[in-house]
Amino acid sequence: MFGLHYRLEKHGLALVLGIIFVAAIGGLVEIAPLFTIDETVEDAPDMRLYTPLEVAGRNIYIREGCYACHSQMIRTLRDEVERYGPYSLAVESKYDHPMQWGSKRTGPDLARIGGKYSDEWQVAHLINPRAVVSQSIMPSYRFLASTALRTDDLGLHLKALSRVGVPYTQEMVTNATADAIAQASADGGEGLTTRYGTATQARVFDGNPGQVTEMDALVAYLQILGRLTNAAHANSQPPEE
Ligand code: HEC
Repeated sequence: MFGLHYRLEKHGLALVLGIIFVAAIGGLVEIAPLFTIDETVEDAPDMRLYTPLEVAGRNIYIREGCYACHSQMIRTLRDEVERYGPYSLAVESKYDHPMQWGSKRTGPDLARIGGKYSDEWQVAHLINPRAVVSQSIMPSYRFLASTALRTDDLGLHLKALSRVGVPYTQEMVTNATADAIAQASADGGEGLTTRYGTATQARVFDGNPGQVTEMDALVAYLQILGRLTNAAHANSQPPEE
């Protein structure tokens, strides 16, 4: 073995060919699974898009570094499935740019946090985590409740996402600001539900109808996590007898 290596090292060309051969094995191992991607990545025809308000919330989630303590990927292990719900499917992060899978869990996984708590709980928790979970070490994000949400640039955010493959239409881009404001008010609006589907949740997320705040956006985002498609739940049903 070492004798061969010794001889190879003395012949430049043979060494280069040897290096190419060994590197190609690594390349193949990475490339080969991609040929079966159509069979391995499931489809979710019911998958809905993030609304502009949810996109804004997602941007705040990234800005505040929530991913440093929270993952958004439930693994296929029994303890995870029992604690968090059906394991995450690749298709569920289809529109996530950048994805938030993460690997650090100082706090729990958030992939299916949507609907687990009320808006009031989420707001109280973000204002002061110790108010609802006495031993919590999560930082307080009180300022979100008093910071007005920037909505004038949301059309540009949707446009950027559409460039990387999220199917936002021109109509969605044009109405992004109005849709964000409508979703954070009690009555929502017809335009919002025609564009994003009747399952869109429109309400005053932060409990303060006077102003659209960053808290509105972040809570709207948290409440939709794991609920963009039903694919994972359908997938986890026990096989028919
Ligand atoms: C320093 C680490 C840390 C950071 C940063 C952090 N969290 Fe947490 N988070 C925790 C811990 C620990 C818990 C568990 C205790 C609790 O519920 O407060 C938690 C719990 C939660 C829960 C409840 C989860 C459940 O299933 O009960 C939510 C929702 C949440 N965090 C959202 C956020 C959001 C949104 C952000 C960013 C604005 C954030 N966290 C930032 C550590 C963190």
